[in-house]
Amino acid sequence: MGCWPIAGMTSVNVNDKDSRATLTAAFESGVNFFDTAYCYGANGESERLIGEVLGANREEIVYATKGGIHWTEDRQRVHDACPDTLKAECETSLARLGTNHVELYYLHAPDPAVPIRESAGAIADLIQAGKVRFAGVSNVNLQQLRDFQSECPVTAIQPPYNMLQREIEAELVPYCLAHDISILVYWPLMKGLLAGKLKRDHVFEANDGRAKYPMFQGTEWRKNQDFLDELRTIAASIGKTVSELVVNWTVQQSGITAALCGAKRGEQITETAAAMTWKLTPGQLQQIDEAITRRGAVVTKSAV
Ligand SMILES: NC(=O)c1ccc[n+]([C@@H]2O[C@H](COP(=O)([O-])OP(=O)(O)OC[C@H]3O[C@@H](n4cnc5c(N)ncnc54)[C@H](OP(=O)(O)O)[C@@H]3O)[C@@H](O)[C@H]2O)c1
Repeated sequence: MGCWPIAGMTSVNVNDKDSRATLTAAFESGVNFFDTAYCYGANGESERLIGEVLGANREEIVYATKGGIHWTEDRQRVHDACPDTLKAECETSLARLGTNHVELYYLHAPDPAVPIRESAGAIADLIQAGKVRFAGVSNVNLQQLRDFQSECPVTAIQPPYNMLQREIEAELVPYCLAHDISILVYWPLMKGLLAGKLKRDHVFEANDGRAKYPMFQGTEWRKNQDFLDELRTIAASIGKTVSELVVNWTVQQSGITAALCGAKRGEQITETAAAMTWKLTPGQLQQIDEAITRRGAVVTKSAV
C-alpha cells in the first residue's frame, strides 16, 4: 500500500479515523508492504499512523520509507539529501514508526546540490548501523542509479509506472533485470485515474492535487476516458473491476516487482488487494496491450 494519500496533503476528504480504517483494511486484505516517506504529511502523519495502526503486527510487515525531501512551515517542498540530513530524518522516521529499523530506506530523489554518491554513502552507513536493512533509490535515471550503486548496494528502485507512463521500460527495467534490482512502481493507478471510477464529467475540487496535471484536463482527459471505456468493457467481461485489471496488468510486466497502490478508504485498498489473488491470461493481457497502443503512451512530468 502506498501511504501518501493518508497524509492528506493533496487528497481531499482525508482524516485520521478513515486512514486508520484504511490501514487496517489493507492488513486484513493481505497487504504486508507499506510505503511511506519522511515528507508524507507536514509532520510525518503517514509514518505516525502506520506505526500506531500496524505496530502490533510489526513482525509480519515490511516498512519502506524515504528521506531527502521535507516541507518548510509555509508548505514549500525542499530537497535536502546531505548525509547528516538523511541520517537525522531516518532517526525521526524510526521514532514515528515506532521501530528500531526499517526493511527498506530510499533516497527519495537526488538532491541537485549534493552528489548522489554522498547521499548513498549515508544510507550505506545506516545499513551498517542496523537502522536500515536494504537501500533503495527513487526518481533516478540510469546514470544516477549507477552512481548511487558505486557507494551503496541497491535492492530496489521506485519509479513512476503505469499503463500510460512506461518510460522506464527503455533503460531502467533491462538494467534492473540484469542486476537483480527490484522495481516497486508508484502511480500504478495514475493517481486514481486508472481506478476507472472518475466519471467523464467529474469536477475536481479546488484542493484536489490532481487537477493541475494535464492527464486530468482537456483532450488528454477525453482520450483517457475513451481508453477507460475499453478497460471497463474488458474488466466487465471477466468479472473484475478496472483497478483490479490495472494492478494485475502492472505486476505482470517484465521486471516489475510490486505495484504501490495508494488508497484513502478501506474499500479502495481491499479492491486493489484483490488483484493479488488471480492472473490475467496471455489473451487478456494482449487485449489490454492493444487498447494501450490505441491510446498511445503519454509523457507527464514526474512527482518530484
Ligand atoms: N517516490 C516518489 O516520489 C513517489 C511519488 C508518488 C507516489 N509514491 C508512492 O506511490 C504510492 C501510489 O501513488 P498515489 O497514492 O499518489 O497514487 P495511485 O496509487 O496511483 O492512486 C491512489 C488514489 O487512487 C484512488 N483509488 C485507489 N484505489 C481505488 C479504488 N479501488 N477505487 C477508486 N479509486 C481508488 C484514490 O483516490 P481518490 O479516492 O481521491 O480518487 C487513491 O488516493 C503513494 O501512495 C506513495 O507511497 C512515491
